Amino acid sequence: MSLKPVTIIGVGKCLPDRIITNDELSQIVETNDEWISSRTGFKQRRVISGSESVSSLAIGAAKDALEFAGMTGEDVDLIVCASSTPDYMFPSTACEVQAAIGSKAPAFNVIAACSGLVYGISIANSFISAGTYKRVLVIGAEAHSRYIDWQDRNTCVLFGDGAGAILMSESDGENDVLSVELAADGKKALELTLPSGKTSCPLVELEQKDESDYIWMNGKEIYKFAVVTVPKTIKSAIEKAGLEIEDLTYLVPHHANMRIISAVQDRLKLKDEQIIVSLENYANTSTASTPIALSEAMEAGKLKRGDVIALCGFGGGLTWGTAIIRWNAEDKRKTDGLESLKK
Ligand SMILES: CC(C)(COP(=O)(O)OP(=O)(O)OC[C@H]1O[C@@H](n2cnc3c(N)ncnc32)[C@H](O)[C@@H]1OP(=O)(O)O)[C@@H](O)C(=O)NCCC(=O)NCCS
Repeated sequence: MSLKPVTIIGVGKCLPDRIITNDELSQIVETNDEWISSRTGFKQRRVISGSESVSSLAIGAAKDALEFAGMTGEDVDLIVCASSTPDYMFPSTACEVQAAIGSKAPAFNVIAACSGLVYGISIANSFISAGTYKRVLVIGAEAHSRYIDWQDRNTCVLFGDGAGAILMSESDGENDVLSVELAADGKKALELTLPSGKTSCPLVELEQKDESDYIWMNGKEIYKFAVVTVPKTIKSAIEKAGLEIEDLTYLVPHHANMRIISAVQDRLKLKDEQIIVSLENYANTSTASTPIALSEAMEAGKLKRGDVIALCGFGGGLTWGTAIIRWNAEDKRKTDGLESLKK
C-alpha cells in the first residue's frame, strides 16, 4: 500500500482573557518576579474565568485553525484533542468541539501530558498517510489553573491555560510530515503527577480539596530529564527524516521553561532566532504551547514555505516526542483578502 503525502494546512489558538502577572502571584505566595523570570522566563500566564472552560478554548482554537485553512467543520474527518485537564472524563473535549464546529467526524481525546500535541500529530499522520481520513484536526487544550494549589509556590508560578490547534490534510504535493518520534518511560511516572484531578472551578474551593487534587512535580528531576532527553529526541527525529541539524529552520519546543529551552538550544547549537517560543506571556500551557507559538510565529510573518520545523513535546508519563514538519500552510484569510483587493 502506498502512503499518502501529509501536510499541515491550518494553525490556530485561543487564550483565556484573565491575566495573572508574576507580581500578582507574589501577593498570593512568597515569590517575586525576579525569581520566576530568571528560572522560567515567564512574566505572566492566562487562566480561565467566568464561562471559559477547556472545551471553550479548544473550540476557539479549532475555529481559528479552520478559518486559517479556509475550511469548515464539515471538511474535517477526525478530531483528536490532547488534554490532561479536560472538563469531563467523558464526554471528550473532542466531541464537544465536533458539535460546536458543525462536524460529523469521529472524535476522541488523548492523554500524553505535555507531549500530547506530538502524540496527536502522530495519530493524525498515521490515519491520513494510510488513507483512512483526509483531514484531521489536532487540538491541545488545557486549564491547569483548576489543578494548581495556589498556595504552592513550587508549581503555581509555572502553569497557564490555553489552547492551540493544527489542521492536517492529505497533500496534493510532497509529504511535509518528515518524521515523528514518540517515547515514554513509565518508571518515572511519579515525578510529575495529577493524581485525582476532580474539580469544577479555578481558583476556588481550596477547602474542599486535598493534595491528590493538585499537580505535583519533582522539579529538579524533570529538569534533568528534559535537558538530556529533549536534544536526543530532536536529533533522532531529524535523522529519521534523513536530515542534518543544519537543515532545521526552527525549533518549537514545549514551553516548560526558558532554562530548559536554552540548554536544549546550546546542545543542538541553534541560534536564538531559530527558537520559536511565546512562553513569556502564557507560561507552561502543556499540549497547547507548541501550536500557540506556531500560530503567533505565523501571525508575526516569521514562517515561510519550505521552512523545516521541529515540534517537540515532553512531560508527565514521562513522555516525549518530536515531529519534523515542512511548513507549507497558507493563511487563507490573508490570501482571500489579497484576492478580493485584486478584483
Ligand atoms: C521548578 C524549577 C524552576 C525550580 O528551579 P531550581 O533551580 O530547581 O530551584 P532552586 O534550586 O534555584 O531553588 C529552590 C528553592 O527555591 C524555592 N522556590 C520554589 N519556588 C519558588 C518561587 N516560586 N519563588 C521563590 N522561591 C521558590 C524553593 O522552596 C527552594 O527553596 P529552599 O532551597 O529554601 O528549599 C526547576 O526545577 C525547573 O524548571 N524544573 C522543571 C519543571 C518543569 O519544566 N516542569 C514541567 C515539565 S512539562
